[in-house]
Amino acid sequence: MKNTQLYISENKERFVNELIDLLKIPSISADKAYAKEVVKTAEQVSQSLKNAGADAVEICETAGYPIVYAHKLIDPKLPTVLVYGHYDVQPADPIELWTNPPFEPIIKKTEIHPEGAIFARGACDDKGQMFMHVKAFEAMMSSNELPCNVKFMIEGEEEVGSENLGLFVKNNKEKLSADVILVSDTGMLANDVPSITTGLRGLSYVEVEVTGPNRDLHSGLYGGCVANPINILNKMIASLHDEKNQITIPNFYDDVVELTKEERAEMAKAPFSIEAYCKALDIESVYGEESYSTMERGSIRPTLDVNGIWGGYTGEGAKTVIASKAYAKISMRLVPNQDPHRITELFKNHFESIAPKGTRVKVTPHHGGEPAVTPIDSIGYKAASKAYEQAFGKKPIPVRSGGSIPIVAMFEKELGLKTVLMGFGLDSDAIHSPNEHYGLFNYYKGIETIPYFYHHFTEMSK
Ligand code: BES
Ligand code: MN
Ligand code: MN
Repeated sequence: MKNTQLYISENKERFVNELIDLLKIPSISADKAYAKEVVKTAEQVSQSLKNAGADAVEICETAGYPIVYAHKLIDPKLPTVLVYGHYDVQPADPIELWTNPPFEPIIKKTEIHPEGAIFARGACDDKGQMFMHVKAFEAMMSSNELPCNVKFMIEGEEEVGSENLGLFVKNNKEKLSADVILVSDTGMLANDVPSITTGLRGLSYVEVEVTGPNRDLHSGLYGGCVANPINILNKMIASLHDEKNQITIPNFYDDVVELTKEERAEMAKAPFSIEAYCKALDIESVYGEESYSTMERGSIRPTLDVNGIWGGYTGEGAKTVIASKAYAKISMRLVPNQDPHRITELFKNHFESIAPKGTRVKVTPHHGGEPAVTPIDSIGYKAASKAYEQAFGKKPIPVRSGGSIPIVAMFEKELGLKTVLMGFGLDSDAIHSPNEHYGLFNYYKGIETIPYFYHHFTEMSK
């Protein structure tokens, strides 16, 4: 991989400029107003794969946004790596909190990224991380060092639930046949503490609506006499956690896999500073489920969080009103072996049962996803571990993440393949938030690490 690494070091600046071009297109999958831009991004990704030397580059139409597919098959006897990533991004709001416009990328130095970081929506999640794979592939191709077969599947609907990708995978098992799936859409502990993600949480997401009287009422004439949907919704939500901060939905924890003492002790070895954590978030203290550490609360334990709540009068000044309706969006992060459909059902039944007389409740499920764990004794993990060690000079630590990539469980079910989660982002990179950024160090390290993975995976598969 000498020539590959040389090629990377000689083309660093161009690699950044090309990523910046990709980040300029607002590929927001959640907002129909950006439909053209999302499609344009797919075209740009496919062009970059062509330029890098891929064959069979295709823009596969779906009922939603297209999937970019490409491959380079050099020898059927050699293993095949299937790279997955997404080119869509989250909405940029609240836009006023960005110090620079979200689709006008800019490089700035930060405390954590003294070498500079690219600020833009999607810089880390996932355009920056996905594009590392295109550039690593280009480097291996240009130096004649691609050691095995590779397939790319880059989708444009990850941030809205990957529904059409699910169908695509089910219908294209042959086309997608591979030996391992490689994804860079997660993070690592710190730039000097490399880690590999070994688990993702699942997700159940619901919207609730509480209805009281048939119209908005004068809060003086009716206040105190009828159920106020906003008061009631808040009461109901508050009752979903007990004094230990455990979730009160009956049977919610039934299928949760508890870690052994040994596994928890192993987890606790990962470096983590509560002080630094609190300082970074400007909070006095952490908060969460009793008897679990912050690391555990954020990865191996299920959670329930209100993501948004609204109703009544929120305009300027005061309006004395009892609203007819109140709403909230609620996410539940799930862990092995919780089933998102069952959890949604449990939530719905419970939430409807606690609505007091004089109110009506409607629960509408949104997209969800299954949790996933990846083994650390597989060739894929071992090859990744060696690759990090080579690039960072340190053995990476296995860490379970709190985020969700629902398609990972799907890959296992449909293709029978385990995924290697080689993420290079940091928690402080502000993904989904204003001022999302991705360190140049992380971008380059990723491009450097990926070819090592190809090399070790091929060698270890022999
Ligand atoms: N890349 C993230 C997930 C992630 C980030 C996992 C960091 C681990 C570490 C992904 O794009 C994402 O945002 N997923 C959503 C779920 C999806 C169904 C919208 C999430 O986790 O909220
Ligand atoms: Mn992502
Ligand atoms: Mn995301």
